[in-house]
Amino acid sequence: MKVLYLTSEAVPFIKTGGLADVAGSLPKELKNLGVDIRVVLPMYETIDEKYKSMMEKVTEFYVDLDWKHQYTGIYQLDFDGVTYYFIDNKEYFSRSYPYGFGDDAERFIYFSKACTLLPKEINFKPDIIHSNDWHTAMVNVFVNDFRHGDSYYDDIRTLFTIHNLKYQGVFDPDVMRLAGLDGGYFNENDLKYYDAINFMKGGIIHATAVNTVSENYAREIHYPFYGEGLDGVIRQYDYKLSGIVNGIDYKQWNPKTDKLIDYNYDIKTIKNKSKNKLALQKLYDLPQREDVPMIGLVSRLNEMKGMDLVRYILDELLSEDIQFVVLGTGEYTYEEMFKYFAWKYPEKMAARIYFNSKESNKIYAASDFYLMPSISEPCGISQLIAMRYGSLPIVREAGGLKDTVVPYNEYTGEGTGYSFSNINAHELLFAIKNAISIYKDNPKAHQQLVKNAMNIDLDWQISAEKYLDLYEKTKA
Ligand code: GLC
Repeated sequence: MKVLYLTSEAVPFIKTGGLADVAGSLPKELKNLGVDIRVVLPMYETIDEKYKSMMEKVTEFYVDLDWKHQYTGIYQLDFDGVTYYFIDNKEYFSRSYPYGFGDDAERFIYFSKACTLLPKEINFKPDIIHSNDWHTAMVNVFVNDFRHGDSYYDDIRTLFTIHNLKYQGVFDPDVMRLAGLDGGYFNENDLKYYDAINFMKGGIIHATAVNTVSENYAREIHYPFYGEGLDGVIRQYDYKLSGIVNGIDYKQWNPKTDKLIDYNYDIKTIKNKSKNKLALQKLYDLPQREDVPMIGLVSRLNEMKGMDLVRYILDELLSEDIQFVVLGTGEYTYEEMFKYFAWKYPEKMAARIYFNSKESNKIYAASDFYLMPSISEPCGISQLIAMRYGSLPIVREAGGLKDTVVPYNEYTGEGTGYSFSNINAHELLFAIKNAISIYKDNPKAHQQLVKNAMNIDLDWQISAEKYLDLYEKTKA
């Protein structure tokens, strides 16, 4: 099985969101399963010198975008057992940040076209070209388009993974001329989306198979609420859509060996977990108390992450005997809100409005609960990390949160966390209050949940096997 895996970001080279975590882990696991997988990324200027100096230029060619004849350098890096190709073009990728520029449409049409041409240039003909999110969605269109004149593409199949349907890549139809796509593609059953073109829509329509990052999200996006304006297209192409939940790298995320936390622990030495709580309380100037339930939240602070629900109940929540620690950045209104409540309740709340991976690991290790009340969550990764670190997730039953967190059942003792179903701030508050009361009044039940959470196996290997199955099914 030969796979060309396309992504606009991957750990450790470049990261703005969860896609980078997936693209940093999944190819490695597929490689372990015997797949000849090669990953393609843009050669961003901000990639660390340390990696750049290990790369080797293997070839160069030109990509035509209408009247433009664009240089394309290919650099290879073998890293951690996986082969990476970086596509070099200074005009498009010598920038301080991956996205958010006026020419993003052109930049990612260029990248996608270069990726479609790449197999011939490096003499690696994949069975599957696996693209991710809007940035590489146009590859699926190009492969179909190239088939008209070039039989090389006849037996190459495509898989398109949607990590978040919200970000679609909607642009002025003018770029179709640059892409070299004729007017036939500008119709309702193709790239056209109102008066614009939509890369993600193109990816869904043209890919051989499509998947999302959890089974529940694959169901949800059939409906207008989660469909982000594409639910009609999703229903129409439902026959080629499936869901595969993400995993986390169990070697990387392990409280027993994590060097960023103060005290290592596992289920047997779980007592050490509370030492991490004392250490974090010291770091964040909170009263040092082992017995107080601590809730952690490490997140991008935006509406989709459910921050309005949190805002609505913070006063009530902070009248309880708890501590609440927040780490992250995002929309100004939520940053200010958390700063305000930290000022108002200095003994109970710490808000650190920046991102720092060391502190984020310390929060997973220190907290008893982990808050994730997302309005929409295609999969979510931090709830998986939280469980691994014995911090019980309190989640809304959206997308992958529903697939990965088993809510506490007081009759059977089963569960790995707590959940609530409606977008209702008081449902969230009751879920938290319930969790706290069990922590305080029934420590045995709480400890059992911690054990359950630390014991579930959400290692990437399981998900990688499902991707391999999907590749087999999709292959020519
Ligand atoms: C996106 C989604 C998130 C998912 C991640 C990786 O960031 O919003 O839910 O976990 O992609 O697939």
